[in-house]
Amino acid sequence: MRKPAKLIAAASTVAVLLGSMTMLPVQIASADEDMVKAGKKLAEDRKKGNCTACHAYEGANMPGNIGPPLVAMKARYPDKQKLYEQIADPTKANPNTLMPPFGKHEILSDKDIKLITEWVYTL
Ligand code: HEC
Repeated sequence: MRKPAKLIAAASTVAVLLGSMTMLPVQIASADEDMVKAGKKLAEDRKKGNCTACHAYEGANMPGNIGPPLVAMKARYPDKQKLYEQIADPTKANPNTLMPPFGKHEILSDKDIKLITEWVYTL
């Protein structure tokens, strides 16, 4: 009667594996969602990003138009790191830009900029 026991053990291993495989994407999705939410909050906070003062985007409340609208960001920035750099130090791409260098001038922390980047990437 050894074989059935092994089979049951194997079957339960498969069940555990399947269980953890189906759990994983759910956990990642909710972590991302939290980051996007936190990023949006920082971006719209006047004492933090204040991005809405210069940029329009979907759902923006009375946005300014000093900067270009934030749309199709994933297509425009296939490399997310480039988007991070644009927010951390836009003077690298354009020394005369009106956009504040949020990272270089320590207006936002590295973590804040990462969260904002996650949000901008959804626009
Ligand atoms: C004082 C106005 C101002 C503020 C505040 C500002 N930006 Fe900008 N932003 C600009 C301008 C102007 C540009 C155009 C590019 C340039 O000047 O080189 C720009 C460009 C960008 C770009 C590049 C867009 C593209 O089409 O490639 C991104 C992304 C961006 N800003 C994100 C942000 C985020 C995120 C925030 C908030 C953390 C922010 N900006 C705050 C003025 C601003």
